[in-house]
Amino acid sequence: MANENAIKTVRSLVRNIDYEGKSLLSINDLTNDQIYGLFELARALEPWNRSAVPLLTGNVMAALFFQPSTRTRMSFETAMHRLGGAVITEATPMVSSSIAKEESLADMIKVVSKYANVIVLRHPNDVDARDAVTYSDAPVISGGFGHWEHPTQALLDMYTLWRTHNKVEGVKVCIASADLVAARTGHSMAYGLARLGADVTLACPKSNRTPPEVMDKLAAVGGNVKEEFDLTQDGFNELIAGMDLVYLPGCSAPKGAEADAFKKIMDDYYVRFETLDKVRQEEGRIVHVTHTLPRRAGEMDLRIDTTPNQQYFEAIAYSVSIRMALVASILGV
Ligand code: CP
Repeated sequence: MANENAIKTVRSLVRNIDYEGKSLLSINDLTNDQIYGLFELARALEPWNRSAVPLLTGNVMAALFFQPSTRTRMSFETAMHRLGGAVITEATPMVSSSIAKEESLADMIKVVSKYANVIVLRHPNDVDARDAVTYSDAPVISGGFGHWEHPTQALLDMYTLWRTHNKVEGVKVCIASADLVAARTGHSMAYGLARLGADVTLACPKSNRTPPEVMDKLAAVGGNVKEEFDLTQDGFNELIAGMDLVYLPGCSAPKGAEADAFKKIMDDYYVRFETLDKVRQEEGRIVHVTHTLPRRAGEMDLRIDTTPNQQYFEAIAYSVSIRMALVASILGV
């Protein structure tokens, strides 16, 4: 009976979100009410995070990943399995799909959308990806497009924040990277946080600042967003000591001649164990740190892993619930 009531609640939350049949390419495809609706639905689905609830029996999800992935692909696959649906995956399309025989991405998407009820696509070129999905006969979820956006990573990180603070409005978040040009997750997260009223600081070198088109959109939202440039490691750690959440979207470090110079910039955005420990000891406050992962050496002190400040592994469990919520809302239950 308890189960039946819980499923009734899930169905009612799905109806309220009103997202059936729609694609999700940008976090801005969702209204604020739909984002909060997905949070409520994800919380209602948490009891089945490690078991199964047969809400999507008979549905097929295709995962098409043109870039490597552990978390995004496997958490979507897990979410679909937990909901009773089936999964077909192409994780090496450049080698093992007909793309290797020069089939266009548009044709591939058109064909796969005849098999699957929903497609999750990751692609290195956001322009090609956005064009190709217009040929789909099924809704498409972005699993990360180029340097543009990674909306479901932002959804899961905002969900984790919401589950931690019970709100997003007014929470102080520093999004920090040695390169915010290419940080697709940072862009999606900044949009989402600004729209939900968080207090956002973007910290990066001025030479690698958030692209102007992203800043223009953020300004249009009218949220509380500011930029901090060219901090030293001391300055950066002073800044994050006053935050509720430090958000590390990671970055790809160049190889070869530029590698050493980039490593020096990365050092300025290194999250110290001592900074977080001091705030905990002296103020009794937790500055949470999350990283979208995968992380690379030199971004943070790994001793943070075993402190209450660590949120990057906590977010993994939440990632299944929020992706269950999204897939259920798109397919209807
Ligand atoms: N955070 C993230 O997108 O991880 P993967 O590249 O492993 O999917």
